Amino acid sequence: MIFFAASLHNHKFLTHFCAMFQKLRQRWKVNGVNLLLIIATFALGGSLCGYAGRKILLLTNLEKGVVWFILYILLITLLWPLCVLLISIPLGQFAFFKRYITRIWKKMSGRKENIHITRIAVFASGAGSNADQVINYFAASPTIKVALVVCNKVGAGVLQIAEKTGIPSLLIEKERFFKGDNYLPELKKHHIDFIVLAGFLWKMPDALINAYPKKIVNIHPALLPQYGGKGMYGQAVHEAVITSGDNESGITIHFVDELYDHGEIIFQAKCEVAQHDTTETLAQKIHVLEHANYPAVIASVIEKQNRS
Ligand code: GRF
Repeated sequence: MIFFAASLHNHKFLTHFCAMFQKLRQRWKVNGVNLLLIIATFALGGSLCGYAGRKILLLTNLEKGVVWFILYILLITLLWPLCVLLISIPLGQFAFFKRYITRIWKKMSGRKENIHITRIAVFASGAGSNADQVINYFAASPTIKVALVVCNKVGAGVLQIAEKTGIPSLLIEKERFFKGDNYLPELKKHHIDFIVLAGFLWKMPDALINAYPKKIVNIHPALLPQYGGKGMYGQAVHEAVITSGDNESGITIHFVDELYDHGEIIFQAKCEVAQHDTTETLAQKIHVLEHANYPAVIASVIEKQNRS
């Protein structure tokens, strides 16, 4: 019983630890190895700083008292950036810490950092499992934010996701979307910079494509250019793949242009189509691939565009 409780406790601790690790990776935009090296730099730099502070104060022959402690705190505050930067060199993390310390310095001196936040609108018509992944992925991002969920279907699951996560949603109507102002003023009102289609079943009007050049991406549940085009969505795609006897399928993330499933391909990932696969089992495999890749690919497209 005690063993069971302890392992349950350990399991919870491990889950929290992994979530924290993941959040830090996203926040600092580093991979797992670099994050470990950064943590090691913090630990070693901190210890070095404490050690050096004590050694320096020994030279003053001061008694350990209030003055000693005040001087010690002042000293380690000054020494800390130096020690951390020093340790970061052999651990290959100098660039990260230079940026980190500059940021802290700017904050302390009251200078505001001018960070541009890219605001995404996610367009979806259905359950919204991809929208959910995208929202969660960027929840902790300091530079990318899902600012709006756009949906064309009353009662669609994605609207509940928007409500649960506190993201404003917009229910759109055909007439205005295709023949009116295309909801462009609404997108501008929410300062949308980038559009992510995640199971959105209407074609994007030319006006929106022109207003957001190379800033609209879509995910398709097959390996384009095969199995794309009008009417190729959901089970129809998986059915066509299985009927054709192909032994692999996958996902395609692409920019959106004026034709269905046609814009420049950004990323593809494959999975096996087994003999016993049905449209449902294949759809599950595809969803796993989508959830694992879509948010990270969106992040890298936006970061690349923001850098250039
Ligand atoms: C996904 O399979 C995506 O490839 C396609 O629409 C589906 C949406 O699924 N464009 P969900 O609503 O995100 O679960």
